[in-house]
Amino acid sequence: MYLNNIIEAIGNTPLVKLNSVTDGIKGTILAKVEYVNPGNSVKDRMAVKMIEDAEKAGLLKPGGTIIEGTSGNTGMGLALTAIARGYKCIFVMSDKQSKEKQDILRAVGAQVVVCPVDVAPEDPRSYYSVAKRLSEETPNSFYPNQYDNMSNTAAHYEGTGPEIWKQTEGTITHLACGVGTGGTICGTAQYLKEQNPAVVAVGLDTYGSVFKKYKETGIFDENEIYPYKTEGIGEDILPKNVNFDLIDLFIKVTDQDAALMTRRLAKEEGLFVGWSCGSAVHGALEYAREHLKEDDTMVIILPDHGTRYLGKIYNDDWMREQGWL
Ligand SMILES: Cc1ncc(COP(=O)(O)O)c(C=O)c1O
Repeated sequence: MYLNNIIEAIGNTPLVKLNSVTDGIKGTILAKVEYVNPGNSVKDRMAVKMIEDAEKAGLLKPGGTIIEGTSGNTGMGLALTAIARGYKCIFVMSDKQSKEKQDILRAVGAQVVVCPVDVAPEDPRSYYSVAKRLSEETPNSFYPNQYDNMSNTAAHYEGTGPEIWKQTEGTITHLACGVGTGGTICGTAQYLKEQNPAVVAVGLDTYGSVFKKYKETGIFDENEIYPYKTEGIGEDILPKNVNFDLIDLFIKVTDQDAALMTRRLAKEEGLFVGWSCGSAVHGALEYAREHLKEDDTMVIILPDHGTRYLGKIYNDDWMREQGWL
């Protein structure tokens, strides 16, 4: 039995019980370990789906170029899909993303363009604007736009949600997930809430992001926007994939709390995961400590792998420079 190419290996990731960092918490805490995907992140799932849907809609033609603004993980999923299907890739990243993420994308054949992070999204230098401009200038190109492309949510509605429902045999009561484009939490929560409307979806946000205040007040507050270090979650825009009706509440997690929890997951659980995994677990456990009951089952989605952060949170000197050790 073999797969025809590596993208057929995407999905069906393991659900693993957390045993140590959950000390003193009632209920069962399970982690959906998404680094087991071939591109080492949850974003493989939606990358393939965006490409397949674009092919079906005639938006992407043979030999075409995929151009996307990405914090790295979506790029990896798109690059693997492009190899399997014969497309070229250009990725636009902000200079806050780790060097490893850029190198990894170049290793799988993509062209990488780096843009400054500290400019407004509508600024022509921002990675949103540059990606959009390049897609307009490049013939036979396709701009997936993971923020507003609903194939993103659909991938998790069709894959991640049903997997979790089956793996927990329908016993899941709480879903916890970091929110960037919103595709992962909204697609997964939509499926789970259709099976059991009582399932609570907890969104994890960063300080410096607009989501929590917008959910609580309906106000898009520009004062909530300031630079932060955690990669992959929190936004200064409202992506179409974030459906606030499907996310019951948001919890904000600091860069430092996230970094320290990520290191604990590696040391105490053997889960060598990425930085936003620490955000998800730290915030989820804060909620669980207060609200979870003995019979409850919470699933936390862990989006990516630790290798992408070796120069940052897994580097003791870097951690000391931040004043976090
Ligand atoms: C490391 C990491 N964590 C979390 C997320 C958030 O997932 P989503 O975009 O589905 O909300 C992303 C998305 O880019 C990511 O790269």
